Amino acid sequence: MTAKAACSDFLHFFRSWVSNPLRVAAIAPSGDSLARIMTSEIAALDGPIIELGPGTGVFTRALLARGISEADLTLIEYGPEFIDALQARFPAARVLQMDAAHLVQADIFEDEPVGAVISGLPLLSMSPRKIASILAGAFTYMRPGGAIYQFTYGPRCPVPRPILDRLGLKAVRIGGTVRNLPPASVYRISRRKPLELSRERLRYRDSEADIDLVAFSGETGS
Ligand SMILES: C[S@@+](CC[C@H](N)C(=O)[O-])C[C@H]1O[C@@H](n2cnc3c(N)ncnc32)[C@H](O)[C@@H]1O
Repeated sequence: MTAKAACSDFLHFFRSWVSNPLRVAAIAPSGDSLARIMTSEIAALDGPIIELGPGTGVFTRALLARGISEADLTLIEYGPEFIDALQARFPAARVLQMDAAHLVQADIFEDEPVGAVISGLPLLSMSPRKIASILAGAFTYMRPGGAIYQFTYGPRCPVPRPILDRLGLKAVRIGGTVRNLPPASVYRISRRKPLELSRERLRYRDSEADIDLVAFSGETGS
């Protein structure tokens, strides 16, 4: 990416943050160092892949650099201001403007399960209920052995422990970088028992949301 394009992305991102700081939750796009860690365990054969909250597409580019086919990417972005640029930059990818918390209802993959989910979502500014919906939705599409890669600016995994427990998931920190604004860590979130969770079991219905997620929202996975 040229310096001019990087500067234009920064301004685009910064303006989005000014108009919606909670949703965008960062003043600048992630850096290349974080993008490398986020995609370090992804291989070409892992497609199809879902990316949540791609923004200007920093992680998308890193996925392509690792050999993932653009046609194997589904980019889920809630911010309308990012959609046109994503479609123009990654014309072969599927770009969906939607809330990642509605993944289950959206039924976006009929056949082949996905190998990984890359998430740039600002989980720290989301409610526990919303985080649970996003994770449960993502794992309905995941093949056995697949994982979500999530970064955070916080000192621990941004998914509260009760949510991990409730969904039968575990979180492991796979790396971090100070060469990012701000410094960030990356967590791999995967199933504790790969075949235990079926699509039906992971449907996160309101009637099942009886664990006290709010009370535990300060706790973390690892
Ligand atoms: C911290 S930025 C990360 C952007 C990009 N991945 C990066 O690292 O530079 C968070 C992104 O998630 C998007 N986002 C926030 N809430 C979302 C939601 N509920 N569903 C989908 N995208 C969301 C924002 O619009 C923004 O693009």
